Amino acid sequence: MDLLLKNARIVTSSRVFEGSIGVKDGRIASVSPSLEPSGATVFNAQGKIVIPGGIDAHTHMELPVGNTTSADDFYSGTVAAACGGITTIVDFVDPRPGETLLGALADYRKRADSKVTIDYGLHMMFKGQNIGEIDRISDVVRKGVPSFKVYTAYRKRGLMLEDPEISRVMEKVASVGGLVAVHAESDGIIEPLIQGNLAAGNTGPKYHALSRPPEAEADAIARVTRLAQAAEARLYIVHLSSRAGKDEVEQARDRGNNVFAETCPHYLVLTDEVYEREDGRNFVMSPALKKADDRAALWDGLGPGGVIETVGSDHCPFPSSQKDWGKDDFTKIPNGVPGTEAIIPILYSEGVRKGRISMFDMVRVTSEAPARRFGLSPSKGSISVGADADFMVIDPDKRVKMTSEVLHTKIDYSIYDHITTEGYPVLTVSKGEIVMQDGEFVGRRGRGRFIPRSAAS
Ligand code: URP
Ligand code: ZN
Repeated sequence: MDLLLKNARIVTSSRVFEGSIGVKDGRIASVSPSLEPSGATVFNAQGKIVIPGGIDAHTHMELPVGNTTSADDFYSGTVAAACGGITTIVDFVDPRPGETLLGALADYRKRADSKVTIDYGLHMMFKGQNIGEIDRISDVVRKGVPSFKVYTAYRKRGLMLEDPEISRVMEKVASVGGLVAVHAESDGIIEPLIQGNLAAGNTGPKYHALSRPPEAEADAIARVTRLAQAAEARLYIVHLSSRAGKDEVEQARDRGNNVFAETCPHYLVLTDEVYEREDGRNFVMSPALKKADDRAALWDGLGPGGVIETVGSDHCPFPSSQKDWGKDDFTKIPNGVPGTEAIIPILYSEGVRKGRISMFDMVRVTSEAPARRFGLSPSKGSISVGADADFMVIDPDKRVKMTSEVLHTKIDYSIYDHITTEGYPVLTVSKGEIVMQDGEFVGRRGRGRFIPRSAAS
């Protein structure tokens, strides 16, 4: 054995048991009530909880946005992830203007491979500029990237596809067993509201939220779920933020759609009240934060049988100096917030400890379901013999105030500094190597690997 975790309270998505985990050559070699050390590095997990490593299937490391890039590159972003108990990320390839899908994929691989500290996969963004490459979708799938994200918003920025184009992409992706992810907000609702607010001199961050009401999300979901049903495509609604949107996903499920949704930590613990704050710009992301009632609906959706099957972070932070670009015009604020390091602390402390979800729910939505839905099973997403030795240890008594000094993202503020957790990850093991211990990153740059994914269930 290379590593032995003993006296662990192991929690999976369906059971909890006391035992030891033995690791050999990066894989789980044994899970049993008791194991003898036999020369291994021993970690005594007495009084702690051990769960599978988190899978954050929604990150944007070094993403080009306007005339900047998101603050964390594949190194600092995966350091932050590992320090929050995440052992796999799935980022989004964003083809630059004029770049082919395969060219962009090769570029992302090159940039990520030398930096990632944990394993990673990739989704492909399929934008308006890519429509001429629709027949290349099967080539992208063969390279281990079977999921494609389309936008129903951002026509002006060239990201949006029209409905007939979305249908074509869905048919093509479905024909090769892939998955279509959708940023679901209706441009037709948002854009007139933005223009109206700017014309009226309403330029503060709260008008970002008022220009992106829940109806924009619900309308887009109602449309894309029907397009997906007609195309017989599997559908993944990213960053669900509202009760109205969730209702639409539920209705689509009732009609027989193979659709599931993801929400993000910020929608679970923040509301649009923060846009009134002096630093309100720092909370600008899309979709915008909603009301307390929406937040409650999202927690409900994470329960057994709920339509929110995964929690991804949409990690896409910008420093306050860049958020300030929009101090006189909310449309100039780079959109996005940090989150990959916050998923597990927030789900555990704000979810499990406060009785909003069970420990089983937390394990399901952070590892088992993303592994299954994104084609990472059986090597990822479970604590079982033969699986990758990706797991974390949570100290249920560790209290952490989530300030920017504690978190590892490169930016200079925290959107979670009002939260002091009850419980926090204290050890992260990736492929059998300890990469975080007691809040300190102890892994290596470039040790992570690209995980080619198969078409999923
Ligand atoms: O505001 C957000 N979500 N920024 C990240 C980029 C994207 O479109 O998801
Ligand atoms: Zn995103």
